Amino acid sequence: MSSDSTRKRRNARNPRIRRIAISTGGGDAPGLNAVIRAVTIGALRRGWEVVGIREGYNGILMPEDYPDGGLIPLSLESVRGITHLGGTILGTTNKGDPLEFPVRQKDGSYKFVDRSMEIVRGCKKQKIDAVIAIGGDGSLMIANALYEKGLRIIGVPKTIDNDLSETVATFGFDTAVSFATECLDRLHSTAEAHRRIMVVEMMGRYAGWIALHAGIAGTADAILIPEIPYDIDIIARKTIERVEQGKRFSIIAVAEGAKPKGGTRSVVEKEIGRSERLGGVGETIAKQLQKITGQESRYVVLGHLQRGGTPTTFDRLLSLRFGAAAIRALAEGESGIMVALDPPTVRYVPLKKATSRMKVVSLDSDTMLTARDLGISFGD
Ligand code: F6P
Repeated sequence: MSSDSTRKRRNARNPRIRRIAISTGGGDAPGLNAVIRAVTIGALRRGWEVVGIREGYNGILMPEDYPDGGLIPLSLESVRGITHLGGTILGTTNKGDPLEFPVRQKDGSYKFVDRSMEIVRGCKKQKIDAVIAIGGDGSLMIANALYEKGLRIIGVPKTIDNDLSETVATFGFDTAVSFATECLDRLHSTAEAHRRIMVVEMMGRYAGWIALHAGIAGTADAILIPEIPYDIDIIARKTIERVEQGKRFSIIAVAEGAKPKGGTRSVVEKEIGRSERLGGVGETIAKQLQKITGQESRYVVLGHLQRGGTPTTFDRLLSLRFGAAAIRALAEGESGIMVALDPPTVRYVPLKKATSRMKVVSLDSDTMLTARDLGISFGD
């Protein structure tokens, strides 16, 4: 928290707020609507007007695409009853990064243009004094670029992947892990009934947090994460040993970004203007295990089910805390920061620092040691 004198200095740099905007960017995550509610109520209570920008910054960049001009006025009425709802009432997008916006040329090739100044000007035109940017690493990098170009902005860390380094947790992660754990629980009975190997592919991009946490809680026999390249023969040996011990089924939790030793991760497609789409590793592993062990193997891809539905109590509370803290930060004259969970408090971290490093699973962490002590294989 800032001292009175630094706060006064900041307030002098940041004139009075009359109108703020909320932007939700990147893949959706359970808890987005709870943040929107806390931000809106906190702002209205301070006498500020609040608008939501449609689909990331598209409502500012392409207002003509929206019948309402791309901005949704937010009132107490519009945020009533949304805390428990998945998705985002503002819409979101993970295409067309405004820092490298793809523009198709006559010859079919693409040119990438920086449209961030258009957002800053667009906000000024709409009399928006500050923006609350809710997003993952990509959206927060955009937020930092907008801050450096003069926009007053506060970031809120969202992603089911939990891969932001400066916060103990991002909202959305707990809901995704809870869902994935329940899926592992359900798969146990059918795997056992059919004496099968079940391979369960989970999201998480280049970090193995979801597979690690759900895998331990859901008692998987092996967990494969991007941080530890796997050897398929070692996983096969684990499943064979289980059969020899009379346990005739195995459950393998695999992160979508997992890769074999000396190999590469499984990419579905690379579309212009968005990050590569991962997927397919679960299928590959199931086929290889069936071939090596002779045991019938199936795969399940949990996919977007991990992002849908109602946020858990933990995620709702975290989202509401983040939203309220973002408004307090603005009121204190802060800008260019992200609110971050640092139990028991929520602190402020410069956006530049918050986006400088990806948080991956630390191999000597207590959680990893727990998994090893439980006899879970990582295929290494
Ligand atoms: O970053 C969140 C996430 O769900 C990742 O876990 C996943 O790789 C990606 O988004 C999927 O994105 P999309 O919904 O665009 O396919």
